[in-house]
Amino acid sequence: MSYLSKIDLTKTPKHIAIIMDGNGRWAQKQGHLRLYGHNFGVESIRETLKAAKELKIEYLTLYAFSTENWNRPKEEVDGLMDLLVKSLANEIKELSDTGVRLSTIGDIEGLPQECQDELQESIELTKDNNEINLVLALNYSARWEIIDAVKKIASEVKSSNLLINDLNAEKFGLYLNTKNIPDPELLIRTSGERRISNFLLWQIAYTEFHFTEVLWPDFKREDLYKAVLDFQSRERRFGKVSEQLT
Ligand code: IPE
Ligand code: IPE
Ligand code: MG
Repeated sequence: MSYLSKIDLTKTPKHIAIIMDGNGRWAQKQGHLRLYGHNFGVESIRETLKAAKELKIEYLTLYAFSTENWNRPKEEVDGLMDLLVKSLANEIKELSDTGVRLSTIGDIEGLPQECQDELQESIELTKDNNEINLVLALNYSARWEIIDAVKKIASEVKSSNLLINDLNAEKFGLYLNTKNIPDPELLIRTSGERRISNFLLWQIAYTEFHFTEVLWPDFKREDLYKAVLDFQSRERRFGKVSEQLT
């Protein structure tokens, strides 16, 4: 029986974030180059997106390339950038026709011009869709995002557009790349690693974590259902005690 039938569709997370990890190991286990795994990872994105839509998830954020990933061998970095451009070009029409609205977080200006152009076109094409928001984290690092916010805040304080005492957590969030996006209720990381790797540090203050041994190219719909079921088994107390929750 599918895990889907066990999910309470009235209590699914609004926002799921995923650290898609394990492409390289998946390929190497089969004697292939790492890029082979990245290519297969695209199919997992397709499947995950379909499952997320079934569950009426409003935001799906995928960690696709971290600022630290520039330190990989040039061949792999070039291959990943190429894959991004080709996948967008191939998929965007169908994504758009099925109601996907694309956006990005991260330092997009640091990506090759070709990627920036393809992204801009895709974002423009899908801007009026409202079935699901697909947020790609590209050249993203949470520390970069936070420092970037602090710089903007400092400059507003300096020009007297913002009073220091008016700053609070809610206002701070408006200076992040994720402004207007609710914090993720569920964060999934594949491949058995149990770390955050500079992803959404501010936004995950109260997020539930689901770690799975499954490598990203093997991650399919049932794996997303399983993660959501795990999420639904948690008691989210937000500092209170059990008895206070209704
Ligand atoms: C995740 O898979 C994809 C990216 C980071 C771009 P990896 O490439 O990190 O795969 P492993 O962790 O080396 O197996
Ligand atoms: C995190 O995976 C980044 C992405 C999934 C894009 P990594 O594979 O780069 O993380 P580390 O280096 O193992 O922490
Ligand atoms: Mg990895």
